[in-house]
Amino acid sequence: MQLIKKITDWRSESSTLKRPYGLVPTMGSLHDGHLALVKRGRNDNATLIASIFVNPAQFGSSEDLQKYPKDIEADLEKLENEGVDIVFAPSLEEMYPNGFDTYVDPGKIASRLEGKHRSGHFRGVATVVSKLFSIFQPDRAYFGQKDFQQSLVIQTMSKDLNFDVQIVIERTVRDNAGLALSSRNCFLNERERDAASVLYKALTEAKNLHRVGILDAERIRRKMLQIITSEPLARIDYVSVSDAQTLLELGEIDRPAVASVAARFGATRLIDNIHFDD
Ligand code: PAJ
Repeated sequence: MQLIKKITDWRSESSTLKRPYGLVPTMGSLHDGHLALVKRGRNDNATLIASIFVNPAQFGSSEDLQKYPKDIEADLEKLENEGVDIVFAPSLEEMYPNGFDTYVDPGKIASRLEGKHRSGHFRGVATVVSKLFSIFQPDRAYFGQKDFQQSLVIQTMSKDLNFDVQIVIERTVRDNAGLALSSRNCFLNERERDAASVLYKALTEAKNLHRVGILDAERIRRKMLQIITSEPLARIDYVSVSDAQTLLELGEIDRPAVASVAARFGATRLIDNIHFDD
């Protein structure tokens, strides 16, 4: 495994590497959710690249950029064990040098759900991912369903900007209680962590209601609200039952749909979702 910090080092290195290239973009602090993407990418590609970069452009001013967890040594060991070929871990200056002044502005899909609560977040995501796509020109790039809206933003961006890359979306990896793995889970104390599994409870109940034939989205939203508010440590940002392509809220569930939730437990904001048709 080779650790690359400079874009020019990749350019000199890449002439010897075989296609297809797979790319797994991350912000580090890696857990089994990230590693599921890496395993899939390892399986599919001749060359596997993972990136580690905590991207300031996707954090709001009141968000947790400064305290975002970092453990580069542990991350490198995990990636090495998974057989990654190249780790790209650039500095801030490498990605956003002095004078950097161009951003990718995603459209409607980025304005919904998370977009309403995290202004500018997807602009930062789209910008950094488009830079990674330009640098590495991967054949495939791997994203988690955990951040489902992010994967839709990236799919739309790739199509609109003609990035010739296949976007592969991997299932959400959860702990035994159903809590989706997240780098931010380390901020939860024990009580908050127990409480946070209420999100998965609400999502599975939503899916069950749909499975037994309930097509009234509002009724499902109300049930999710009721389950989550029964947990005193949860403070809800939103519950949603939306069209799985557009993320527009549904009245009747008459097409592929996704239930999404965002809530805070103490200072930690968590998101999760479930597809009704999986
Ligand atoms: P990060 O939060 O580090 O996540 C990197 C990738 O891992 C994302 O595609 C995310 O959806 C996926 N992932 C996270 N938790 C997961 C889980 N429990 N199961 C499966 N996949 C999971 O998402 C980002 O970084 C950034 O926005 C990034 C795309 C790297 C751009 O900066």
